[in-house]
Amino acid sequence: MRHLLKLAGMREAEARQILDLAKKAKKSRGKKSAAKGVLTGQIWALIFTKASTRTRVSFEVAIREMGGVPSFLSAAEIQLGRGELVRDTARVMGRMVHGAVIRTYAQSDVEEFAEFAKIPTINALTDDEHPCQILSDIFTIEEKMGSIRGKRIAFIGDAACNVPRSWAEAARIFDFQFVCGAPKEFRPATVGGNVSWTEDPMEAASGADVLYSDVWVSMGKEAEAAERERIFAPYQINRKLVSRAKKNALVLHCLPAYRGKEITDEILEDRAKDIFDQAENRLHTQKGILQWIVSKPLKGRN
Ligand code: CP
Ligand code: NVA
Repeated sequence: MRHLLKLAGMREAEARQILDLAKKAKKSRGKKSAAKGVLTGQIWALIFTKASTRTRVSFEVAIREMGGVPSFLSAAEIQLGRGELVRDTARVMGRMVHGAVIRTYAQSDVEEFAEFAKIPTINALTDDEHPCQILSDIFTIEEKMGSIRGKRIAFIGDAACNVPRSWAEAARIFDFQFVCGAPKEFRPATVGGNVSWTEDPMEAASGADVLYSDVWVSMGKEAEAAERERIFAPYQINRKLVSRAKKNALVLHCLPAYRGKEITDEILEDRAKDIFDQAENRLHTQKGILQWIVSKPLKGRN
């Protein structure tokens, strides 16, 4: 059985299968397509402890367009929110639904769920990783610029949170340079190989093919908001920073965006076409992920 719990440990062949399926799903949306009946007769639980717009809606739409039925469960409204164990919730879900998409805090909770539910399980964001986002972002970059191999992706901001962590794993899988411009308190957990870190955002942006940003205050870190805004103030994607990147560099943001904080209103509006194409691609990539997860691994491949 397949799961998508993290990018750590994923092989390029598997990730490429997802991206190929996403490409087909995008091309054939609304037409007769291979993905259309893939989830017929299936109910997928979406168990979310944290807020979501893009991930929730893209999975709900993808599941429906693939013939399945999504069941959105806010963790606060099921017994999980009153202290029922993850493993007991998982054992119940595993007897009733066909797959699960989970957004929560601890990575270990998603892994425990997969182990006990014994149904295909997808990480829709934890404190450690956001694998669906980064697969989708690679899809967007390749759609607009060709192969990501060898490119320089500069991440500006909180390099210790889930989004850059998944980027760092992706850099190893797809063989591109992932350069973080981040304060030392929020530097990446591990550097080396394709992943590097500098405290100077201008240096990180220099010669970049892609400038990428995420919020300064991730979900769950709200109590640190004032302190983070002070520390991250120099790590903003603005006109000066963009001028350091390559001439045709893409500016991307996983969203939600806080204008005037991690990105200026001017740059966000100037690059809105790419940034909202990026958001739309979440839908097509979720279809690739779902189709990959329910299909049987090919013999001798994975
Ligand atoms: N980028 C992203 O995951 O957005 P949501 O939090 O709205 O799902
Ligand atoms: N790092 C952000 C990503 C939001 C999609 C967070 O965890 O809130």
